Amino acid sequence: MRINKAVFPAAGLGTRLLPITKSIPKEMLVLVDKPLIQYGVEECLSAKITDIIIITGRGKTAIENYFDRSIEHEILLKEKGKHHLLKSVDDISDRINLTYTRQKEALGLGHAVLCAQNMVGEEPFAVVLSDDIIDSDIPVMKQMIDIYRNYGYSVLAVQRVEDKDVSKYGIIQGKEIKNGLYQIEDLVEKPELKDAPSNLAIVGRYILTPNIFDFLKDIKPGKGGEIQLTDAIRSLLSVQPIYALEFKGDRYDGGDKLDLLKAQIVYGLKNHETKSGLMEFIKKSKWCVD
Ligand code: UTP
Repeated sequence: MRINKAVFPAAGLGTRLLPITKSIPKEMLVLVDKPLIQYGVEECLSAKITDIIIITGRGKTAIENYFDRSIEHEILLKEKGKHHLLKSVDDISDRINLTYTRQKEALGLGHAVLCAQNMVGEEPFAVVLSDDIIDSDIPVMKQMIDIYRNYGYSVLAVQRVEDKDVSKYGIIQGKEIKNGLYQIEDLVEKPELKDAPSNLAIVGRYILTPNIFDFLKDIKPGKGGEIQLTDAIRSLLSVQPIYALEFKGDRYDGGDKLDLLKAQIVYGLKNHETKSGLMEFIKKSKWCVD
């Protein structure tokens, strides 16, 4: 079955990025000139996913405002003859079917996904955590859909992480069935290093079968008192196979200060308008010495 829908959980509190997240949702933080969430939506579009379901919560209205049409900008740019800038307010929401639902309380990622159940229905669907920034030649969702097409079951994006970071992620145990593709045997949320079955960490892209909702409904709060998506996926594994793809690309955790800064530099260096100026600035910067 084709993947038409993507759920974007965006109701988290972003505590690691306080104080900015007091008033700006993490998903609205900027990479050059677009908010993180737009990169995620563009990734879905490139994988021909056009139904976007955003899970918002308190203090997240900036996301909804962003995806509205900016008539004032359009009129102003036309009046001033700045037609070349019109493309930049080209409304991505014209190319997607956008719906929102709210998670009334940030009870965890699993709970956020469960909030989308009625909108998803009985179809397989994608989940995109747009604060996981993934820079890749082939959009990672496209890489995952290729696997889904061949195997027909859930696919998780995984990445090797250093030992010191293992306890921050859901970690899989799997059998490598093809280069970089694993059939999952078990998975555990935020294990201590000594209990971790591998260094393969689940990151913010998933393709899930609708059966996940059967388990999400009954999942009790797990690590950190949150309703964890990983725990529901573990239960799903008892009824159907699940695959993990070690995707090709570089990932930055947009919810982490240092990683967000690294991503801003990388995207600045990839952008034709900012590349040379940024490179020159970095080379000459008095801050770039030990
Ligand atoms: P994170 O744990 O990275 O986000 O959740 P957070 O909770 O906002 O950040 P910190 O840890 O407090 O700094 C991963 C994704 O799941 C969403 C977040 O918005 C983020 O996109 N999420 C998390 C929800 O939508 N609801 C929740 O209850 C928890």
